This record gives sequence, structure tokens and C-alpha cells, in this order.
Amino acid sequence: MTQVKQGTRVDAKSRRTERRAADKEVPSRYQSGFGNYFESEAVPGALPVGRNSPQRPPLGLYAEQISGTSFTTARADNRRTWTYRIRPSVVHRPYARLDNGMMRSAPFAEVDATPTQLRWSPLPIPKKPTDFVEGMVTFGGNGDVATQLGMAIHIYAANRSMTDRCFYNADGEMLIVPQQGRARFVTELGALEAAPGEIVIIPRGLRLRVELPDGPSRGYICENYGAMLRLPELGPLGANGLASPRDFLSPVAAFEDTKAPCALLAKFQGNLWAAEMDHSPLNVVAWHGNLVPYKYDLARFMVMGTVSFDHPDPSIFSVLTAPSDLPGAANIDFVIFPPRWLVGEDTFRPPWFHRNVMTEFMGLLHGEYDAKAEGFLPGGASLHNCMTAHGPDAETWERATKAQLKPHKIEDTMAFMFESRFAMRLTRYAVESSELQHDYFEGWQGLEKHFPAR
Ligand SMILES: [Fe+2]
Repeated sequence: MTQVKQGTRVDAKSRRTERRAADKEVPSRYQSGFGNYFESEAVPGALPVGRNSPQRPPLGLYAEQISGTSFTTARADNRRTWTYRIRPSVVHRPYARLDNGMMRSAPFAEVDATPTQLRWSPLPIPKKPTDFVEGMVTFGGNGDVATQLGMAIHIYAANRSMTDRCFYNADGEMLIVPQQGRARFVTELGALEAAPGEIVIIPRGLRLRVELPDGPSRGYICENYGAMLRLPELGPLGANGLASPRDFLSPVAAFEDTKAPCALLAKFQGNLWAAEMDHSPLNVVAWHGNLVPYKYDLARFMVMGTVSFDHPDPSIFSVLTAPSDLPGAANIDFVIFPPRWLVGEDTFRPPWFHRNVMTEFMGLLHGEYDAKAEGFLPGGASLHNCMTAHGPDAETWERATKAQLKPHKIEDTMAFMFESRFAMRLTRYAVESSELQHDYFEGWQGLEKHFPAR
């Protein structure tokens, strides 16, 4: 794969080359299909046949189930995986508290929630050695980690691989969006690698080590305390469109049989803990089930849009959604703004001005976002909270109202949004950060009155 180094700009061509390289990996390294029931064995004969927990599993392995949903969750939503491992997961010393670093969890009460439009410049990559867990900086979120509803948003900025430690998050599923540098997720169920432009979802509780083969790395994390992410319904679109189930890839079994000491880190009820182990927890030789980590290349998203006039609500750009208890109002929608043709006639083509009951946290992977002429940088972020007004800046409005409406392709861009029905409360770090752009509001102040005097 093409190396993505700090500060270098990866053009569309090299991104396509990178994707073609990734395509070739599919047959050997990944299994395809969203929500599928998979089975995989790293050593032939390691999977029991016809039962989950035989008296003596093959090859002297231990059988262990990981339940991602309650035992009695309806069949369509039930997610669990049976693992066949060298030692059961329970073999570790007692947990002891670790410092939480910059990581925080809901409920967020450090500072007052603000209706102000906010935008941040990219979080700098740290100079001192920092791994994925150490590099997680929480910006805010909603809900409550104890009641398994809501979410948290973190940005990771790190520069080294985890080596002698592994991690699991009992508080939520993690949707990880690398922005700079590849990230390799070595999990109990096998390894997934994601370059910027791909996303990875790690189920709640799954143990993993995160390696950063390119060194300096940054990305966004949406930690989902609630029901799992799933594909959105397609409604009148029919059976095809948006993200296709076959483009979601899960790993094949791979295991480590080591005696090296390992610290097992846990995020549990908002705090970090660590337990000593004398072997690798990534010791699953074979597994079968549907509770799996997966990755998805955002370039494979089939973009919908108008072919007449106006543009539809941005829900047409939903890749994944996680429901709340109110039908149609998601705990989390993951929405992207990919390259696409704009052809609307007599249409203001950038996103319109609006106020929204849903809260919108945006990030930018590369290029420019079509509602903002400047200031929204790759690796940066913006927040428009519940019912906070936002929309294109004055320069974008000026340009779009005067543009000749020829078919136009937006290229070399990938913005995204973590959207939630629950307002987002920020951490103290987010509101006091030197990356906060205090002049963000000024982009709209040039929107002058054009209504003629009467
Ligand atoms: Fe919006």
C-alpha cells in the first residue's frame, strides 16, 4: 500500500491505486458481507463440527462465547461469536486503575453545554511516544455510559504502535475513521487494516492491539454506548444503493501463541483499568459467529442525489445508523459527503441554511467541504448542536448564487458527520483547546441584507 506520511497530500490517483491494492487482499485476508454468519480457522480442524462446546474441543483449545447482545435479543439482531482459544479470556491478574489521560465518558458535566457554532483545527500529533489509547482525546458526547445510550466522540493523535498491551472497550462499540496514517487493528478474531478513506468498527468488548505502521497518525472515533450500528433502511430506493453489504469486510482467524507479558487495558464505566497477563489475549485459533469487527472503504459508497432540482436531506448519505428508542431518530447516524456530481437545475447547490433537532459533529478527511470556503481543515472538526443555526459561509453563498449551473463534479473530498438525536455536551478540553477557532462565527457575518427597502 502507498505510505501516507505526515504532511503529504495523497492525490485521487494514489488513493485509487491504494484501493486497488486493498481489493487484491480481499480473497485471502477478509470475509465479505455485513451482518453475515462467518466461520474461520487458522489451523485446519480447529473448529468443532455440529456443536459449540464439545466435551474436548479440537487441538486442546478452550471454547468461549462472546455475546454482543443479550441472550434473548431477537434473532435478527442477535450477535454472538464462539471462539476456540489457547487459554480462556479469564486468565489474567486483577484489574487496577489507570490514569484516564484525556479520555472522558458520558455523562459530560465538566462545562456548560453550548449552543454556539464551534470549529476546531486539527489536533497536533504528539511529540512524545503515544499509542492509540494514550492518544485518545475526548471532545464530548451525550447519554450515559451506565445506561448504554448515547455516544462519545474522541480524536486520536498518536505516533506509535501498541506493543506489550491490548485494549477492550466495555462501554461501547467503536467506529474509527482514520484521517492520517494507516491503522492496523489486530483483534481476537483476526487483523483489519484501514487507510484514510476506510472505516473500522470494533464491537464492544472485543480485545485488540492497534498498530500504526506509518507512525504519526490521526483519526476520529465515535464510541457508541447504545444499540449496534447497522445499515440504514433503503425505503423507496429499493434493494440497492448507499453502502452495499458485500463491501463490508471482516477478518479471518489469526492467533498469537506467546509467553510475553501483556497488559490488558479495559475501558469500563468511563475509566481505564489494566490487568497483567503472561500471554497474548489474541489467542483465538478458530471462531464462528456474527459478532465481528469489520471495515468499509468509503469510496465504495453509491451516492444518491437529485437529477432534477433541490437536493434531498443528507440522510441519503448515511453509511451506518444506530437506533435509539424513538423510531427514525438515531442515537448515531454516520453520514459521508463523498465526491459526486451536482446537476440540480435552478438550485442552490451547497448544503442549505438550516436548524436541526439532531446534533451534527463533522470531520474532514481530505480536500474541502462544499459548504465552507476555508477554515474547515482535514483533521479538524465542527459542531452544530441541537437547533443551532448553521449553513454555508458568506463566500460560499456568494459563489453558489452566481454560479453557472452546469453539471459539476465535486472531487477530492471526503467529509463526514456523526449525527445524534441527543445534544452534545463538550469536555473542558474541547472548549478550552487552543485548536478551537474563536472566529468561526465570522464566516456568516458577511451574509448581507438583499431585500429591497420599501
Ligand atoms: Fe447541518
